[in-house]
Parts: sequence; structure tokens; C-alpha cells
Amino acid sequence: MPATSALLEIHDLSVYYGGIRALHGVSLRVERGEIVAVIGANGAGKSTLMKTIAAVKSYQNGTIFFEGQPLPKDTHKVVTSGITLVPEGRRIFAPLSVRENLLVGAYTRSNRQDLEKNMEEVFQLFPRLKERIHQRGGTLSGGEQQMLAVGRALMSQPKLLMLDEPSLGLAPIVIDAMFETIVRLNRDLGLTILLVEQNASLALELCHRAYVLKTGEIVMEGTGKDLLEDPRVRASYLGIK
Ligand SMILES: Nc1ncnc2c1ncn2[C@@H]1O[C@H](COP(=O)(O)OP(=O)(O)O)[C@@H](O)[C@H]1O
Ligand SMILES: [Mg+2]
Repeated sequence: MPATSALLEIHDLSVYYGGIRALHGVSLRVERGEIVAVIGANGAGKSTLMKTIAAVKSYQNGTIFFEGQPLPKDTHKVVTSGITLVPEGRRIFAPLSVRENLLVGAYTRSNRQDLEKNMEEVFQLFPRLKERIHQRGGTLSGGEQQMLAVGRALMSQPKLLMLDEPSLGLAPIVIDAMFETIVRLNRDLGLTILLVEQNASLALELCHRAYVLKTGEIVMEGTGKDLLEDPRVRASYLGIK
């Protein structure tokens, strides 16, 4: 059983691709209302961690508890439990319109009455998407596609939103706007967020707590502020000597 009342609690998680170990003994927790970041270099295992929680990838050892219950090992059930992943590279449906992409995000919902209301809430967050409502997803800019991917995830009404490298491939000004939205989602709407990022300085600035993942293992943890000031983090992840 989990030791605390954390929203998400992972203990001693190990994940392999064939004979190659991608995660080793990973333990972390996310409390309700937090933004938790996992930072680490390319290949550290960040996406593997996201995919494992989302049950896209199976795990060999460890436990994952969500709201005090073992998390189902089934992608669909993970979403209905309240966890939605915005995957690395966004994965929006290029031939579908913005509206259709958003509706896809709501497919697991049993309560479909408030769909239009939820879509309006997404449009309040991202007015650009409303302007593009009938445009095909594939014709949107990278930043708009990231908005659509987040909007689509919100349509499933998650309790925990997971974001895999939301800044990847975006221009700095677009990244700033996206991160402001992430903070608003947390602060104004109370959404709990688990974020993985190679862009460590951005992630550490906005999160409450963070973990450092290195070749599949958690090597440090602390508040975003503490890690930003830590000489090892500064040298290895922020490029500051
Ligand atoms: N589908 C896969 N098959 C085999 N190895 C993989 C696969 N996906 C990732 N890996 C390996 O697992 C490790 C972690 O990858 P990943 O989780 O994608 O890291 P990150 O997201 O931090 O860049 C890397 O060594 C990577 O090569
Ligand atoms: Mg990745």
C-alpha cells in the first residue's frame, strides 16, 4: 500500500526494452495541486516514464498507485482513472479538424453532456484554436499543434495532466506562452501536472518540485528553486559553470 496520500505514487519502478534497462528503481510522488518536473538529458528515460504511467509501455518491477489505488495496466483505463498524457511530438491527427481533434480527446468520457462547454473552456485558454476550429490539424504551426494537444488532453477532464517535452521544437516566444498556460492551468484551475523536459531551466522555474533522471535512475530531487541553485544541476543541466 502507498505510504502517503499522494495523488500519484511510484515505487521502485524498473522498465526494460528487451534486455536494455531504461528505468531502474524509480520512485517518485506527485501531490494534489503540484507541478512536478522530471528533468534529464536525451535518453535518460523521461518518455519511458511517461509511457509507463500511461500504460503504453509495460513494466517489469515496481508499483504505481493513483489516488491510493493500483493504477490499471490498460491505456484506456488509465485515462478513465484520470491521467492523460500529452505525448512527445504532440501526435495530433493531421487530417482531422481542430474541433474533431478535441472531440477525440473526449472519447473515454461517459458524461458527454458538457462537451461543448468544455470545448469553450479550451478555447478560452487557447483563443487561437477557436479561430482555427475548422482547420486541419496538420496545417497548424508547431505552437498551435502543442495547444491542440494540450486542449485535446483537457477534453478528457484529467486529474493529472502529463506533458512530455512541451517545449520541444518551439520558438522561445511560443515556449513562454505555453509555460504561462501550464502555470495558469495549475494555479487557476487547480490541475495537477507532471512534466518532463530537457529544457531544465524552464521546467525548474515553474515547478514546485523536481526530480533529476540520469540513465534511468533518479539521482536528485528537491524544490525547483533548490535544484536551480544546485551547483551539480547548474553544471550538468543548465550549462552554467
Ligand atoms: N522503443 C524502444 N526500443 C528500444 N529502446 C528504447 C525504445 N524507446 C526508448 N529506448 C531507449 O530507452 C532509453 C530511454 O529513452 P527515452 O525514455 O525515450 O528517453 P528520453 O525521453 O529521456 O529522451 C534510451 O536509451 C532509449 O534508447
Ligand atoms: Mg523523450
